[in-house]
This record gives sequence, structure tokens and C-alpha cells, in this order.
Amino acid sequence: MSLPSPDYVRIFDTTLRDGEQMPGVSLTPQDKLEIARQLAKLGVDTIEAGFPQVSKGEEEAVKLIAREGLDVEICALARADKKDIDIAIGCDVNCVHTFIATSELHMKYKLQMTPEEVLERAVESVEYIKAHGLICEFSAEDATRSNRDFLRRVYVAAAEAGADRLNIPDTVGVMIPKKMYELVKDIAEATGKLISVHCHDDFGMAVANSLAGVEAGARQVHATVNGIGERAGNAALEEVVVALHLLYEMETGVNTQLISETSQLVSRLTGVYVQPNKAVVGANAFAHESGIHTHGVISHPLTYEPIPPEYVGRRRRLVAGKHAGAHGLKAELEAMGIYPTDEQLRVILERVKELGDKGKTITDADLLAIARSVVGGVQLEERVVSLADLVVTTGTNIMPTASVKLIMGDTERQAAEIGVGPVDAAMKAVQKITKDLVDARLREFRLEAVTGGSDALAEVTVRVEDDEGNVVSATAAREDIVLAGVEAYIEGINKLLVRKKVGGG
Ligand code: KIV
Ligand code: ZN
Repeated sequence: MSLPSPDYVRIFDTTLRDGEQMPGVSLTPQDKLEIARQLAKLGVDTIEAGFPQVSKGEEEAVKLIAREGLDVEICALARADKKDIDIAIGCDVNCVHTFIATSELHMKYKLQMTPEEVLERAVESVEYIKAHGLICEFSAEDATRSNRDFLRRVYVAAAEAGADRLNIPDTVGVMIPKKMYELVKDIAEATGKLISVHCHDDFGMAVANSLAGVEAGARQVHATVNGIGERAGNAALEEVVVALHLLYEMETGVNTQLISETSQLVSRLTGVYVQPNKAVVGANAFAHESGIHTHGVISHPLTYEPIPPEYVGRRRRLVAGKHAGAHGLKAELEAMGIYPTDEQLRVILERVKELGDKGKTITDADLLAIARSVVGGVQLEERVVSLADLVVTTGTNIMPTASVKLIMGDTERQAAEIGVGPVDAAMKAVQKITKDLVDARLREFRLEAVTGGSDALAEVTVRVEDDEGNVVSATAAREDIVLAGVEAYIEGINKLLVRKKVGGG
């Protein structure tokens, strides 16, 4: 089998076969077709569309994909058994991937066959597939726990029988890179065929073992999108491809910019959630929160981004949180179209850290609400009224009461009021203290919970009117609704005072 260059590694995608064998995953034929179309767009070399013998639905799905006319090799899995292989051939695929176990454990307890019977069946199956003019890939299941001399004999026999590719499965994921390297070298030298590797992730080494196989000369890797598959899954396609391109300077046919959308499609259709810290496709793979890191990536992306996010169809995310720094926050706000002054940025950062310290995750919507309330506000030096203290009591058997202390210039003033609820009581107390300065009546009070949960950030927007008919609006965002309401009201009062001053009133 010829390859475009010595550094080209074929990507044999088994998302629709081994990936679908993941517990809890079951795709309809239409779902499978949609994923197959995306995989073809992505540029994999082979799509293993399914194991048609397992059910009528699976057979239908493989047929549907094979008949779609995608510009990619379509393969079906079959045990080394003529009946299985006939079903696969009947699906109009270009390639049959046939397998038989070669470890003593599997031969004795699963197949109940002798090694010689296994060898004979492997040869017959390869010959049968080749006699039908199809591409044949042969796998010795549980190869990595098989007796080496026997395994070598099986692969040599399969190669002589005409197999186009020899796949080495680490069926239960027990290899380490050094051993995988040595095994691949051995089989490649003994057979002279294109060697493929198929690694499972039971010890979290599927990608490392696959890459070790490539170092030893394998020129095909079996992989699944998002690493889904039996038990702990298979080698993750996105990790293998990006490592091959960027760490090994090797080639694949994959258009890396489509990796992210492919990952999302597979996650949505399989219902398998991608862990946030998953390499390449996890939500946090290109997110930076710490001040040092965000400063670094803004100055020069390579400082903390070994993979450019755009390379895999992603965007950098600067996350606000307790580790946030002014640089990252500023860049994130600017991306939202908000350009704070240094003082405003300091206040926003303080608020973000305050929330982060309480263990809250700050979503983009939260940040926007905080920023809007700070940026839309009166500059510190122009502020006449500010909140010094707020105490509210409420309950089923007492009148809601609020006690408010405000700083107004050099003086501190306090008042207490009752109301229909704590917000009403607090507003009345503020009004009482400030009415000599400005008679600010509340015209509108709007409350929005920015994100879900009882600890959500509440965004309060008020419209306040003075006795001359000037109307201003002001916003505040806090986890505490009463506090948000009071702050918004005080902000409105400050705006009216600034307006009076500017207007000479
Ligand atoms: O893991 C495995 O051994 C397999 C074979 C069918 C190749 O998936
Ligand atoms: Zn497998």
C-alpha cells in the first residue's frame, strides 16, 4: 500500500465501530451517516463504519455509509469467519477489517481453538477477502498479550495470504511506549507490510503507545474522536493528529481546523460529554485564568499556548476568576466591546476576585453584568454618595426592616425604614438620607438573575427621576439582590447629582 510520503501516517477512524461500542452509546443509522460525512470532510483515510454482523440496524448503517459515495475508504469489521465476512462484503464497503484473537487467554477461554486452528482461520479469512477484490486489514486481537513467536507467525502468514495492512491491537491497553515500539519494529521487520496500531486507554497510555508505534515505523493509527470507546476508550484522534503534526512534524490527511466541530458533533450525537480538561477539544484546553498566564499569552501566545487554538478550530478564552489578572480581564472585556478606565478595571477585578474567593465560577454573562455596572457608573472622584453599611431583617412574623449607612462627602448618615420587603425598606432608607441632596424617586426597578442557581449574580437596573424631571438609569450586579438594588439606586442618585452639577442646577 503506497503512501503520499514516508512521513505520512494514515488515520483509521473507528469512532463508528469501537467508539460506538462504548457503554451507553448507540447511534441511529442517520446519526452514523452524519458523523461519517463529517469524518470524510475532516480528512481521515479510513472510516470503520461498523461491525455489520452485530445487528440488522448496524448492517443498514454500514450500507448507508458505504453507498453515500464519500471520498474516503469505508471499512467494515468482521470476525475471521466466512459468514461474518460475507455480511461485511454485502455492505458494499471497500475494505474488510478481519480479526481473530491470538493470546492464550482468548484462544483457550473465548475461542476454544488451538493456536494452529487460529492461524489457519486467519489465513483463510484474509484469502477470502482478497478473493473478493477488497482491501484487507488483519488484526490479531489481544496481540500485546500474545506469545511473540506465535504472533509473528500469524502476522507473517496473514501478510503472505495478501493482507494489505497489519493492525496490532493493544486490546486491553496494557502496553507501555517502549514495549510498543519494540513490538511494532519486530512485526514490521518480519512482514514488510504497512503496520497499524490500535491502542486502548486502560492505563491512560493509548496516545503515547500509538505514537511509539509510529516512531517504530507504523504508518497507520486507529483512533476515535474524543477518545471514546470500550472501557477507558481508544486513542483520541485529535491528540494523535495534533501530536503527529506539531511534535513529530509528520503528516496526516486531517484538516485540523475541523477538529473542534467534529468533536462537538460526536459529543452531541453520542451523548458523551467531553471532560473540560481534555487535551485539544476540552472546554478549558485554550482557556487561561491566572494573571501570569493571561498576561503571557496576550504578550506572546506561545508563552502558554503550545497549540494555536485556531489550528484546531478553537478560540482562546480568558476566564475571569480569582486567579485573573488585569491584563487578561482587560483583553476579555475589550473582546466584549467594553473599554474600562484603569480605575474601572481595578474595581471589576476586585469584584471578580471577590466572587472567585467564594468559589463562584464567573461566566461571560456574569462578567458582562459586573462590567456594565462599573463602566456605566459615575467615576469615583465624582461620586457624592456611597454605601457604608446595610443591614436588613425580614421574615414571616416581622416587618421587613432596613438600616442603611451612607457616606456623603465628609459625613456619615444613617436611617432605618420598614417596607413591603427588604428591597423596598432599603430603598426607602436611602431615599430618606439623600432627599436633602436630591429628591430621587424610583421609576422602575428591574431584576435579572444572570446565571442559574440561588447564588446567581443578580443584575438590578433602576430608572430614577429627580424633581426637575431628569431621568437616569443605573445598574448594579451582586449575588445579593438587596445590595444590588441599593447600589443601583445610589448609582442613580450620583448620576442625577453629576447631571445637576454639569447643568448648573
Ligand atoms: O481492541 C481490539 O482488539 C479491537 C479489535 C477488533 C481490533 O477493537
Ligand atoms: Zn478496540
